[in-house]
Amino acid sequence: MRSFYLVAWALLAFSGARAGQIPLALSSTTRWNLQDDNAASWDLDALPSSNNTSHLLYDTINSLLQHWPNTRYRNGHTLVPGTIPLGMLLYHGTSVPEVPKVPEWLATDPEHSYIFSLGKEDTGGWHFTFVTTRPLKILYFDGSSAAKVRGGALDSQDVLLWGKPIPEWTFNERKRIDGLCDWGRKLGLDGFARMEMDFEIMLCDFSDGLAVVSKLNLPPSMEELPLPPNNTFIVDLPQLMTTALESGWWHNQYPGDPRIELDLSRLVSFYDTSLVPSLVPVRHHQQRHEHRLEGISPTDVKTVREALALALNRTGSGSGINWRSIFRIITLRYADRLELIRYLLNPTELEPEIPRSLIETAKLVQQQLRISLTPYIINGAAPPMVDGDAGARNHSWTAPIFKYCATTHTNSFIASSSKLTPSEQLILTAIRDTNKEICRVIVKMWAEGVYEGLDPILRQPSSSDSESEPSPEALGSLMNRWRVEIDRLFNWLDWSIWIKCRPACGPEVRHSSVQNAADDPHSVLTL
Ligand SMILES: *[C@@H]1O[C@H](CO)[C@@H](O)[C@H](O)[C@H]1NC(C)=O
Ligand SMILES: *[C@@H]1O[C@H](CO)[C@@H](O)[C@H](O)[C@H]1NC(C)=O
Ligand SMILES: *[C@@H]1O[C@H](CO)[C@@H](O)[C@H](O)[C@H]1NC(C)=O
Ligand SMILES: *[C@@H]1O[C@H](CO)[C@@H](O)[C@H](O)[C@H]1NC(C)=O
Ligand SMILES: *[C@@H]1O[C@H](CO)[C@@H](O)[C@H](O)[C@H]1NC(C)=O
Repeated sequence: MRSFYLVAWALLAFSGARAGQIPLALSSTTRWNLQDDNAASWDLDALPSSNNTSHLLYDTINSLLQHWPNTRYRNGHTLVPGTIPLGMLLYHGTSVPEVPKVPEWLATDPEHSYIFSLGKEDTGGWHFTFVTTRPLKILYFDGSSAAKVRGGALDSQDVLLWGKPIPEWTFNERKRIDGLCDWGRKLGLDGFARMEMDFEIMLCDFSDGLAVVSKLNLPPSMEELPLPPNNTFIVDLPQLMTTALESGWWHNQYPGDPRIELDLSRLVSFYDTSLVPSLVPVRHHQQRHEHRLEGISPTDVKTVREALALALNRTGSGSGINWRSIFRIITLRYADRLELIRYLLNPTELEPEIPRSLIETAKLVQQQLRISLTPYIINGAAPPMVDGDAGARNHSWTAPIFKYCATTHTNSFIASSSKLTPSEQLILTAIRDTNKEICRVIVKMWAEGVYEGLDPILRQPSSSDSESEPSPEALGSLMNRWRVEIDRLFNWLDWSIWIKCRPACGPEVRHSSVQNAADDPHSVLTL
């Protein structure tokens, strides 16, 4: 990290030296024609509505198929049609040497499926490796949708099937897979994709679209026990669980499990407030991890089923826009930089051996804010002088900067919005609103730094540097306001990319944390 700051410092010095100071008096806000824009749209103080779900949609869609974010928020809200392409290996562990004749489960990694290769020591267990002989059409449930736990992870499947979550059927996987396959067959689906320790496929017909690569008799993973009457199949298997968890970890981050290709142009989400208005009051005042689908109205259940049927039945492939990379580009553009700014503003996290005064820290933050906005700070944009004081704090001069920052990634798609599917319209809204809120906060923080004379380029003309520097009180107050802004933005965006070990875990820590989880006597795994 430290070398990065040195580079930032060098940049700061360089840009100051090269550009010199541009006196604020040059400014003119009237030169920027905002055309028919509503000035209120570019108000730096307008917070997103508390019921707005754009940020939730953004993070959910940006996290699809990735193990870590879907472990963190296990109650999935989004259903995405997709395919398992031709030539992919899929695995199935079983106690019998026969290809299943009823809907059954396939793992994407053999570390996961081997758990099910049950048998006695003399007979052994069986492990099938299959390969897809054509693309398989699937529907992916996000979240920890294969975790047989109460509390919401199975909600989206239950609602789709039974209209509401039914806790008594939490462990009734046979009923669930049979129900999903009956429903999905009519819509041309071959199966469903879910996630627990790792990703898995619920396949409806093993005789169509799969070929056997190998059928091996292996030492049994464990002895087969008779199933209890409620279909609950509980195992306590530290070692097996460790290996399955580790294979899940391979898919922790973008792009997630590469065997599943999603078609975002057919996505349907319970976070879509126009499709599912009944959940808005349910979520009011809830933390994100509490979000469930309990309380959804029967009308909204019907709407979601219809939207999904329409999306699956629709011909054509949407607009062709690669939405996943647009999410990725915007996330990469801001994730590290916002994290750096927050780090600089957090005195408890700062590395103590780095000597840096408050003013130096503030200038470094201002520099990062300016770099983020460089492509949008049009020449000449500056606060108007009021009685020689730029501290009048009328933000209207920032409108063009805010607007270009907020709309550059998405405006071209809005123009072609007639070509977008309803799912793509939703995705576009999520990206547009999220990008806009990021820009609102960055522009606001940057403008406040400009007022305090901290910007390396836009500075008050003054006789000496020290004269243009803010007083310790003004500086302290600015840092506090910045802190509030950046913390609020972090909480609102809530990107899983920011939840990580600092410093990153080495192989020993990583192995022992999985081992500890597996050794925990309370971590009885229900499969
Ligand atoms: C969130 O707010 C924005 C801006 O007011 C609005 O355009 C959008 O439709 C809202 N989105 C949702 C999902 O509520
Ligand atoms: C299922 O049945 C077993 C054995 O009868 C019992 O121990 C277990 O608690 C039951 N599980 C559920 C979820 O009802
Ligand atoms: C958010 O939704 C709740 C429940 O429907 C409602 O009472 C509240 O007024 C809404 N807030 C805003 C800002 O729209
Ligand atoms: C799918 O579309 C076809 C033709 O566009 C229509 O005849 C059929 O009823 C639709 N099926 C469903 C399940 O919506
Ligand atoms: C801020 O400045 C703009 C443009 O100079 C002006 O139209 C607006 O009335 C000002 N707002 C306030 C609150 O003074």
